[in-house]
Amino acid sequence: MTNKTGTVLFVDDEEKILKALKRLFRSEPCRTFFASGGPAALDILNAENVSVVITDLSMPGMDGFTLLDRVKAEYPDIIRIVMSGHSDTDTILNAINQGNLYRYIVKPFNEAELKITTKQAVELFNLQQDKRNLMQRLEEHNNLLEERVEKRTNQLLAIEKKAEIGKYASQIVHNMNNPLMAVFGSIGIVELMMKNANPDMDKLQKFLGIMKKNACDLKKIIRSILDHAREGGPSRTEPVNINEIIARALEFFELDSIFKYKIEKNISLTENLPFMKGDSIQIKQIMDNLIKNAIDAMEHSDKKCLGIKTGMENGDIIIKISDTGEGIAEEDLEKIFSPDYTTKPVGKGTGLGLASVKAMINAYSGKIKVKSEKGKGTLFTVQLPV
Ligand SMILES: Nc1ncnc2c1ncn2[C@@H]1O[C@H](COP(=O)(O)OP(=O)(O)O)[C@@H](O)[C@H]1O
Ligand SMILES: [Mg+2]
Repeated sequence: MTNKTGTVLFVDDEEKILKALKRLFRSEPCRTFFASGGPAALDILNAENVSVVITDLSMPGMDGFTLLDRVKAEYPDIIRIVMSGHSDTDTILNAINQGNLYRYIVKPFNEAELKITTKQAVELFNLQQDKRNLMQRLEEHNNLLEERVEKRTNQLLAIEKKAEIGKYASQIVHNMNNPLMAVFGSIGIVELMMKNANPDMDKLQKFLGIMKKNACDLKKIIRSILDHAREGGPSRTEPVNINEIIARALEFFELDSIFKYKIEKNISLTENLPFMKGDSIQIKQIMDNLIKNAIDAMEHSDKKCLGIKTGMENGDIIIKISDTGEGIAEEDLEKIFSPDYTTKPVGKGTGLGLASVKAMINAYSGKIKVKSEKGKGTLFTVQLPV
């Protein structure tokens, strides 16, 4: 027989019955094994990949139910069938109801019925195996997908950051233009003065001073842009000065004239705040995201006030970032940390900010809480262990 679709094990202590079964299944498309009792059956189960066990009940040594209990415990996938002249229907019904038995066949058996039942049992076994394989592949696929989503999220975060710098580009160029003009202007004047045989050294000194100050301003602008665009690599652990990080974040946002001139700032950084151990790039990302959200929320507010406060509470560093923006409705509060929740138009928001903020804070065993009132404003409180 080619193309055997399954393996069936018959167990019966009567030689006569085993012989009849051998004859009956000779031409069936399945592999067959025959055992004259429980122990012999267990040996075969140990050596072969059996799909269906069909057993007699009353046998010397080990009875059928004991055998099936062992099969269930050791080979739970195998389909179990009882074939017996036993008329203890209650016990058998019970076994079927408890999911311990697939079928019960009455002896003397009907040949056609036995063949069909066996065939169905083999099919069920194969189906279950297919299902298991499918589930396994699905799980592998899911894991792969999760990995990809994580990778993509990180890419998106990097894109979001670059886009933000793009948004500020014209403002940045404008900001760089003033110091640059001052430097060139001073150079021109110095060149003119040098043509004089006896240049006024005091004046020269003054223009050198102007050049120096403006070059420093330019350097500061460039540093804050580079600082903002830095991508987090693998996490590092270093002493992080949170106050300094906040000051640097504000320096970047100052490049925007609305932030600079239209938003009132109420900044109170507690002196001598202890350093925390962490990755300064990640901590800066947390601050950037929260400040950026506060600025966005105040776009249409009459009163625009950003509050940032640092301090200590029970040995932890506490950072409070508040705004007088549009606020968040009570029913949306639990959604804001989800990576697909944004109320901003495409190009302005991705919804990823708070999700990554929360993930980073969790990684430091910290906490983030939010309090908000629609139309009034929002307060985020971040708690980070030192
Ligand atoms: N300070 C805030 N005030 C009001 N709403 C906020 C504030 N911070 C976050 N939100 C809400 O949470 C949403 C998700 O924020 P976030 O995860 O940073 O994504 P995004 O800023 O890209 O929309 C925002 O779209 C906004 O609706
Ligand atoms: Mg955001």
